[in-house]
Amino acid sequence: MIHPKRPGAPALRLVLLVALAGAALVAVIAAMTGRTPDVTPASTSSSARIIGGPFTLTDHTGARVSDTDFHGQPMLVFFGFTYCPDVCPMTLQTITRALAMLEPQDAEQFQVVMISVDPERDTPEALALYLGSDGFPANLTGLTGSLEEIATVAKQYGAFYEKYETPDSYSEYLVGHSAYIYLMDSDGVFVEPFAGVTMPAARPGDTPVPAASPDDLARGLQRFLDRRQA
Ligand code: NI
Repeated sequence: MIHPKRPGAPALRLVLLVALAGAALVAVIAAMTGRTPDVTPASTSSSARIIGGPFTLTDHTGARVSDTDFHGQPMLVFFGFTYCPDVCPMTLQTITRALAMLEPQDAEQFQVVMISVDPERDTPEALALYLGSDGFPANLTGLTGSLEEIATVAKQYGAFYEKYETPDSYSEYLVGHSAYIYLMDSDGVFVEPFAGVTMPAARPGDTPVPAASPDDLARGLQRFLDRRQA
């Protein structure tokens, strides 16, 4: 199910993934990480939690950047890594397709930010190469940092990740990770999460969080823009 080799073209990988979408990926994520995600959609005020916060990381050009550098435009934040065989390319392509459904002047407002959960391999150069892949959002920023910086920012977002060895493959290890797309407003305040792929229930008995289709995501982003104008 997990492609053992170093990822090839994202489009090719996506084809392989069509058969994997849905419930199967829930099992994959659970198996990869050995645990269930600790983020659930904070849609009710009683369960609302603080997601996000200040960070200083290194972007794909090698520049040190802070959360405030992204203020002024809404942001779609996603945690992932360049060797990811399936979840990351799928999620990035979902974002691309959702943005393509919006009016161009609306779509270009959103900054898409991928924070690496594999900072040992995801150097700025590796991120820069990856971000230019076909089918990925045009306005995509990659962020990496020290292991400690990444651990801190992941905790702020309630994202989890866990390295696991894949000794029979080129990549040596992969990183299982949660796959939420966090919509942050132009002040960096958390608005709403969307599941990049179907996420397992946070607690036994809860229902899994279904993956947002490009359509779902586009509607969510449009709702956000409409509310802002109201
Ligand atoms: Ni991934």
